[in-house]
Amino acid sequence: MSALDTPVPGSVPGPVPGSVPGSVPGELAGRTAVVTGAAQGIGREVALLLAESGAARLILLDRDAAQLETVAKEVRDLGAEATALAADLREREAVRSGLRTALRAAGHLHILVNNAGVADENGPDDEETWLRVLDINLHGTFAVTAACLEYLVDKGRIVNVSSILGKAGKMRNTAYCASKHGLIGYTKGLALDLASRGITVNAVLPGWIDTPMLRREIAASAEEIGADPARMLRQARKSIPLRRLVEAREAAELIGFLVSDRAAAVTAQSLTVDGGYTRGM
Ligand SMILES: NC(=O)c1ccc[n+]([C@@H]2O[C@H](COP(=O)([O-])OP(=O)(O)OC[C@H]3O[C@@H](n4cnc5c(N)ncnc54)[C@H](O)[C@@H]3O)[C@@H](O)[C@H]2O)c1
Repeated sequence: MSALDTPVPGSVPGPVPGSVPGSVPGELAGRTAVVTGAAQGIGREVALLLAESGAARLILLDRDAAQLETVAKEVRDLGAEATALAADLREREAVRSGLRTALRAAGHLHILVNNAGVADENGPDDEETWLRVLDINLHGTFAVTAACLEYLVDKGRIVNVSSILGKAGKMRNTAYCASKHGLIGYTKGLALDLASRGITVNAVLPGWIDTPMLRREIAASAEEIGADPARMLRQARKSIPLRRLVEAREAAELIGFLVSDRAAAVTAQSLTVDGGYTRGM
């Protein structure tokens, strides 16, 4: 073994680039959780991670009924109960009554992950898209949370999935940026409203997570400028300090930490997972 091969004292055997850490089995034993946008991408990974960590019951909400049922089955295969609520966040009454029925049956709620969202682009005067995006991303999160609050136990956990565009602007994205900035303000205010009960409320700010949403965005941007999507993806990777997209599972891991007992003192925070893209800003 050469001197260069000698492990640095205290160092952990190196992670393989692109590998994802595991869940902590049993850590969330007996917990009930609501996850929105659970049919694919980050929400699906959150649902699987919670089940792997021992959560007893998951209430999964998404507008894509078929995909949602597939994820519910994956969760059941991991040993947790799963209720699939197929509803569009804009159908407030269906969302409220579906959640209430499921939560009444569960009796209580420990974890709420508000993850569902859309990233539709809009021009500065496109009011239709503005209203739709805010209705889903911001008002939808408020409505789900409001329906869950009466069941949320003391020391419960809420995580709102914002975005790196919750702190920055992007062309043709006033609606998305406003909704994601709004979620950070909502998180801070709600954290204070619920702090006396030991409930924590935090925002996670993903960027460049390899999900169907990101793939759609890259394809749309490439088409707009007549570029090759594969080339755009390569350029994107180069602009990320870790030189790769972030796995959906890695965003889920941060959420898994925030909903665990280990994060009992973390509240009102905005935590970014973006491979270093925003350079710590
Ligand atoms: N992928 C990224 O790089 C990235 C970056 C920043 C923020 N985010 C945020 O992370 C969250 C998850 O994103 P993703 O990349 O997994 O997206 P995705 O499009 O892959 O998955 C989003 C899920 O939300 C569901 N959904 C969307 N609108 C809904 C509605 N009105 N009612 C019910 N369900 C609805 C979709 O059906 C889908 O299953 C979103 O809030 C997104 O804004 C993602």
